[in-house]
Amino acid sequence: MDKLHIRGGTPLEGEVRISGAKNAALPILAATLLADSPASVGNVPHLRDVTTMIELLGRMGVSVTVTDKMRIEVDASTIRECIAPYELVRTMRASIVVLGPLLARFGKADVSLPGGCAIGARPVNLHVDGLRALGADIHIENGYIRARADRLVGTRLVLDTVTVTGTENLMMAATLAEGETVIENAAREPEVVDLANFLISMGAKIHGAGTDRIVVEGVKKLHGTSYDVLPDRIESGTYLVAGAITSGHVRIKGTRPDHLDAVLVKLRDAGATLGIGPNWIELDMRNRRPRAVDIRTAPYPGFPTDMQAQFAALNTIAEGTAAVTETVFENRFMHMLEMRRLGADIRIEGNTAIIHGVEKLTAAPVMATDLRASASLVLAGLVAEGTTEVLRIYHIDRGYECIEEKLAQLGAHIKRIPG
Ligand code: UD1
Repeated sequence: MDKLHIRGGTPLEGEVRISGAKNAALPILAATLLADSPASVGNVPHLRDVTTMIELLGRMGVSVTVTDKMRIEVDASTIRECIAPYELVRTMRASIVVLGPLLARFGKADVSLPGGCAIGARPVNLHVDGLRALGADIHIENGYIRARADRLVGTRLVLDTVTVTGTENLMMAATLAEGETVIENAAREPEVVDLANFLISMGAKIHGAGTDRIVVEGVKKLHGTSYDVLPDRIESGTYLVAGAITSGHVRIKGTRPDHLDAVLVKLRDAGATLGIGPNWIELDMRNRRPRAVDIRTAPYPGFPTDMQAQFAALNTIAEGTAAVTETVFENRFMHMLEMRRLGADIRIEGNTAIIHGVEKLTAAPVMATDLRASASLVLAGLVAEGTTEVLRIYHIDRGYECIEEKLAQLGAHIKRIPG
């Protein structure tokens, strides 16, 4: 298994381009199943999760062609079977987003239950209940969600928790349902909006994406389209924190500053000077130690849970004490224990971590159990004295395109050690 070696202590300086958003690309690729002619998706990040989604579609018999570096063409007309097998779903929970499209377009779907996950229970009950309310017949059998339906029928769905992929699955299913579907308490994440825009470009009738009430007027069929995925706000935030934690000066380009409001507020609170343009953000933290910032995660537009670990890393070396509270997922503090091994002063009380900033971290081998946790360990490694070894970086490769190249471009001393 590959690992990363990071020699800490260099303030980052320079410019980096942000890739397409993983969490938009995955449901958009799944949504191509709904079209009756080929769809072309651009600005797709080159990531392991994307490869898994392509493999998943390929196993079903769907034709997938990668035309150039960032563009993927999908023709679902060659589909043979509507199955998402356990061996793929267990490596990527987001595979669940094929459930809605398969059911709506082909009337059947056998999707493995994702099972346990490093960041808590993460059930899919709301996906299943919502599809049942749309008229699907669903049984859980041998670890699989077996769903069948003739044509789904629109209805009013009230989600009792805000769920991103749940909203996406139901919105996709509703596009081909008979009549109107209303999704109340819908997730408002930019990736939900991007998926809605993609569906609209295929002929879907959707209103209200980006609000907590999405209305979908079902149509008989959807057609192919050509679409570019929006920039990744979590990758954007991660490189900004990399600049801040190293007291550096970085500019990220090809991003959407308007999707990062909650993160930018916290970076300013931490003492960063920010310059913001239409598609770029510049962060200057030179000659300053970051100040501790309290974080409380919440669904969009609140502070993203996918940025919690990175800000925890920032707080470990900040001036002062911060409370980091995780409200979206249980059990998403594994990185805190690893950061303690680098010398961080962290106390955990329920879903809050109290972090006292220390003057310096010192290198150690560390291991991560999920994607954003691994990113936070890389960030901590950028400031730790000595060479930090980050193990199990396949988690990072699931969600960060060429992380070591992009960080090296900013001046970090980072090396991938193949293993
Ligand atoms: C998505 C993102 C993930 C991000 C998360 C929260 C993708 C591919 N992944 O994950 O990166 O961390 O949103 O922003 O977009 N829940 C239920 N029942 C359900 C579904 C969810 O109780 O049927 C709960 C979950 O346990 C969790 C909360 O709802 O506590 C939010 O989870 P959800 O928004 O569904 O996360 P994902 O869509 O899996």
